[in-house]
Amino acid sequence: MSTREAPAADASSRKRGFAVIALLALVAFAAILVVIILRPAPGDGELNAETYAEAVAAALENSDSEIGADLVYALECNLCHLQGDGSQSPLFYGLADIASQRRPPLSAEQYLYEATLYPDAHLVEGYTNAMPNNYIDRLSEQEVGHIIAYLLSFTDGA
Ligand code: HEC
Repeated sequence: MSTREAPAADASSRKRGFAVIALLALVAFAAILVVIILRPAPGDGELNAETYAEAVAAALENSDSEIGADLVYALECNLCHLQGDGSQSPLFYGLADIASQRRPPLSAEQYLYEATLYPDAHLVEGYTNAMPNNYIDRLSEQEVGHIIAYLLSFTDGA
């Protein structure tokens, strides 16, 4: 008697076990979906005034615009930004006055930091993304600070 009931009990507990596993899998799947949906879009929390603030402040510590000028020529930023009529690339002239208005709430310094390291984050109106986007690998934070200091020396008409 008992030997005949045993297989039936086994089958039903196996079914229950399967149901529990299926339920757990469903819950896990739902949890993963929620995480994916709630996760901030790429770039969020990366490219904004708050997250730049600290990096830019650190970069600007002991910055020196003369070293920045040397870097701009050594890296040949000048070939695009300091010659020609400005139709291919925006000229640096007047940048100190414009930079803070380009991408509020970014400050002038934060905007220049972004424009140099993440040129694809924002395109200056009327231009294509012809700017190299590998300076993030080629410049130290300190060097970016020197460059920002130099760019801020281009007041209107300078
Ligand atoms: C091959 C040409 C080219 C070179 C080299 C280049 N840029 Fe640019 N840059 C551009 C173009 C085109 C834009 C406008 C499109 C955009 O916003 O990315 C731009 C935009 C900028 C801006 C924003 C200017 C504004 O008016 O808002 C800054 C700042 C800048 N570049 C800095 C640099 C620095 C610093 C270097 C060198 C380390 C450099 N660029 C090298 C082509 C260049």
